[in-house]
Amino acid sequence: MSSIQIKDLTFVPYISEPELLNAIDSLAQKINADYKGRKILFVGILNGVFMFASDLMKRIDLECEISFVKLSSYDGTHSTERVKQLFGLTESIEGKHVIILEDIVDTGLTIEGLYNDLMKQNPASLDVCTLLFKPEKYTKTTPIRYFAKTIGHAFVVGYGLDYDGFGRNIPSIYKLKTKN
Ligand code: XMP
Ligand code: MG
Repeated sequence: MSSIQIKDLTFVPYISEPELLNAIDSLAQKINADYKGRKILFVGILNGVFMFASDLMKRIDLECEISFVKLSSYDGTHSTERVKQLFGLTESIEGKHVIILEDIVDTGLTIEGLYNDLMKQNPASLDVCTLLFKPEKYTKTTPIRYFAKTIGHAFVVGYGLDYDGFGRNIPSIYKLKTKN
């Protein structure tokens, strides 16, 4: 596989589609076991989560619902330290078993904000599930119970993740090519 160009940046292959789907299979099996006997409300964070949410949900064999919020903290390839809520939940989550779905947890700013907001609404339980997790960049204490893969510092695109809105349609993950 070769590198791709998105706008001014070059990206190289990083995590293949079969590797992603294998990791999502294992994640779904864990959730199916841990949540046996409970109904799940997934709350997906748009835009980046749409592909992961779809592939994960197809592998959940428990009763479940899904709803979405739209948050944004990234500008180009850098976190902006401010999370904008572009739209939120319209239904009550009180008494529900909620799992937040995220495409990638980086510093943790986005997930911490949403986690604390949802906690105030008295869910029966609240967990975080992310496709990718950057533990070396994580600065928060919000528990990241479920993740499909950990990655280092790389900025990544594909499988829903974008660079300035583009690259979401790529079925696998590419990382930014470093200069050397
Ligand atoms: P924080 O720092 O709040 O960042 O944990 C999480 C949000 O930032 C976006 N993000 C990325 N998007 N490639 C992307 O396309 C990346 O490598 C990356 N790192 C963080 C993402 O939208 C997530 O919701
Ligand atoms: Mg993004």
